[in-house]
Amino acid sequence: MTATTHPEFNDKTEALEVAKAFAEGVHGKTVLVTGVNPKGIGFATCQAFASQSPAHLILASRTLSKTQETIDTLKAQYPDVDYRPLILNLSSQKSVREAAAEFLSWSDVPTLDIVVNNAAVMNIPELTLSEDGIEIQFATNHVGHFLFTSLVMPKIIKAAERNPKGLTRVINVTSLSPTMGVFRWSDIHYQKKNKDLPEEERPPFDIHRAWGEVDPEENSYLPLEGYNQGKIGNVLFSVALNNKLYEKYGILSMAVHPGMIPTELSREAAPRTWDAIKRMAESSRFSYRTQGAGASTSLTAALDPKLAMPESRDGKENYGVYLMDCQISDKALPGSVSSEKAERLWKLSEELVKEKFDW
Ligand SMILES: NC(=O)c1ccc[n+]([C@@H]2O[C@H](COP(=O)([O-])OP(=O)(O)OC[C@H]3O[C@@H](n4cnc5c(N)ncnc54)[C@H](OP(=O)(O)O)[C@@H]3O)[C@@H](O)[C@H]2O)c1
Repeated sequence: MTATTHPEFNDKTEALEVAKAFAEGVHGKTVLVTGVNPKGIGFATCQAFASQSPAHLILASRTLSKTQETIDTLKAQYPDVDYRPLILNLSSQKSVREAAAEFLSWSDVPTLDIVVNNAAVMNIPELTLSEDGIEIQFATNHVGHFLFTSLVMPKIIKAAERNPKGLTRVINVTSLSPTMGVFRWSDIHYQKKNKDLPEEERPPFDIHRAWGEVDPEENSYLPLEGYNQGKIGNVLFSVALNNKLYEKYGILSMAVHPGMIPTELSREAAPRTWDAIKRMAESSRFSYRTQGAGASTSLTAALDPKLAMPESRDGKENYGVYLMDCQISDKALPGSVSSEKAERLWKLSEELVKEKFDW
């Protein structure tokens, strides 16, 4: 039965503490983290892994100068780790393919034990398409990670061949979106007004109003909606990976909500969205936690050996695939953790990247 080792870990637990508790799971391993902004959760995630002597820590991000800043800071703290920058622009499939090929070519890094897909963009004000013609938040947050993880899978499978079952892991950093959002299956390119979508695909209008939208029914694209698609995608990606890879290879995947952390995530948000975020913070609809506490659920999901293959519980599918506050959460909506929807998204993602994956 899936459970955590430390029920006392919570929203205040720091990632360094989690890494220390599961130090054996990091020693000598190869870990890859995407989105390693020195001011973001990715930095704290890398720092926690670095604190327990991995063999290689691969920092995959789009801005080399920021990646180097993170590496320089960590090198000063933990000089014995082999840090490797990898340029990866998740919103460009060409860049993702180049990054994966570069990583696969490193013969001195033959295996990949832990992947933390942490990078994301949020609150892009207007409908913006990636160079591959996909809404940029969905393209970056889900499709890019789907493609990158799938392309580097040979090294993940190699790691799984020597690790105990369930200890080779792919962690997808999601958000609260799976607890409140719906996936826009019939209109992923935002051609319909929200009010014209099938009822089960209509966005939660009250939530969008709270995020500063005046007439969300009349719009097709909403900034938070683009984010929700990718973040629900992150959980469904974990569900699909488990269904495809756990029995065969022992690879386990989970998706985590990190909590609310004041980072640069909403750097592109419109003033109306910023005003709404400030209002919500002031009205205590959420409270911020530290960068380190924002990384602790990723570390728990990546390392806790008690976490196992998600299961059906209380009529809900895939209990154990979604975590928050360092614990398993049952707050995700059924559509965010459905195996049938996960397979549907897998097929859609393969179409979007024009490649099929089967291991
Ligand atoms: N902060 C929160 O309150 C919160 C709440 C819920 C979920 N999350 C999730 O937590 C994760 C980390 O976010 P954060 O808050 O730490 O935000 P952040 O500081 O903005 O970090 C996001 C990282 O993603 C990278 N990134 C963005 N677009 C990319 C692309 N196209 N290719 C490669 N890398 C890209 C950024 O790189 P650059 O800096 O170089 O642009 C940055 O390193 C995200 O998945 C986010 O959805 C955060």
